[in-house]
Amino acid sequence: MMQETLNKLSLNQTRQQAQSLHLIQSEKLAVSKPFDKQGIDRQAIEAITAKIRKKIRIVPAAKAVLIQGGALMTVLASTQMMGWFAANYMAITLSFSIFSLVLMQAFFAATLSKFAGMASWWRWIHLAFPLAAWALLQWHVPSELYLIGFIVSLSLFWTTFRTQVPFFPSRPVVWQQVAKIIPQTQVVRLVDIGSGLGDMSMYIAKARPDSQIEGIEIAPLPWIISIVRAKFRRSKAVFKLGDYNALQFANYDVIFAYLSPVAMQNLWEKASQEMLPGSLLISLEFEIPGIPPTMRIAGNENSPAIYVWKIA
Ligand SMILES: C[S@@+](CC[C@H](N)C(=O)[O-])C[C@H]1O[C@@H](n2cnc3c(N)ncnc32)[C@H](O)[C@@H]1O
Repeated sequence: MMQETLNKLSLNQTRQQAQSLHLIQSEKLAVSKPFDKQGIDRQAIEAITAKIRKKIRIVPAAKAVLIQGGALMTVLASTQMMGWFAANYMAITLSFSIFSLVLMQAFFAATLSKFAGMASWWRWIHLAFPLAAWALLQWHVPSELYLIGFIVSLSLFWTTFRTQVPFFPSRPVVWQQVAKIIPQTQVVRLVDIGSGLGDMSMYIAKARPDSQIEGIEIAPLPWIISIVRAKFRRSKAVFKLGDYNALQFANYDVIFAYLSPVAMQNLWEKASQEMLPGSLLISLEFEIPGIPPTMRIAGNENSPAIYVWKIA
């Protein structure tokens, strides 16, 4: 198993080296040949786009509202144009069903979110939002349910706009892997930063009753649920409400993170400053840009890859 992991690790490193070589080569090409076949200076365009993106810093929630608004304008303008064209050049009157308009809205919003450089999971939200709104209107859902749904979503996701880390639970296969990765012959102090509903921490607390297992969660609803579940299950895992940035990482031997690509750079800065030599930073699914992991366990259809950095 270990040999297999090491083989995968060296294969991964070789791949990374090949990728960086390819990157260097393509960068060299780009430097020596800035203009493409049409005589367009792609480098200059990319530099300007990057500058504009840096200057116009809109929070993702506001961006999402603008995108849905932009998609609505696009739907209205394109259906008007199609209607005008059909009436003037084909002598027919076009009419669109509400559902087809909703589908167009979902499609345009998802496409615009891609071009606006939003994280890929936003595309699904943009796609689902108009369809969900349409379905709820069709089913004449009582208005109180909207309020309840709004409050539940707010307590689950209220920090997501700020942290850029959505709630998404890991799976038992991951907890089993983590239980194998952590040191086996010593008392382990582990914290799950962003513990969600607490499953991962409760699993490790059961598998390693000798150890000290904590979870910290910034959103109140999952935190309350994890507290209640730990009480019912008589778990030794301890759950705190708060921001993991306020923790002192030196107090832990293992930090487990299932966050998002946006959080990884800052996480590494904090971890490399505070974590003690020999301790482990484990990240599910997300790599740290430019920092090759000490170990990588490949993902499969049931679980994403797991990355481990042993602090030197
Ligand atoms: C992808 S979920 C992972 C849940 C859990 N670790 C698991 O494996 O099932 C990420 C969680 O991190 C929480 N979170 C995001 N930023 C945080 C922060 N700065 N401090 C504490 N929790 C945070 C989110 O609210 C969310 O519940």
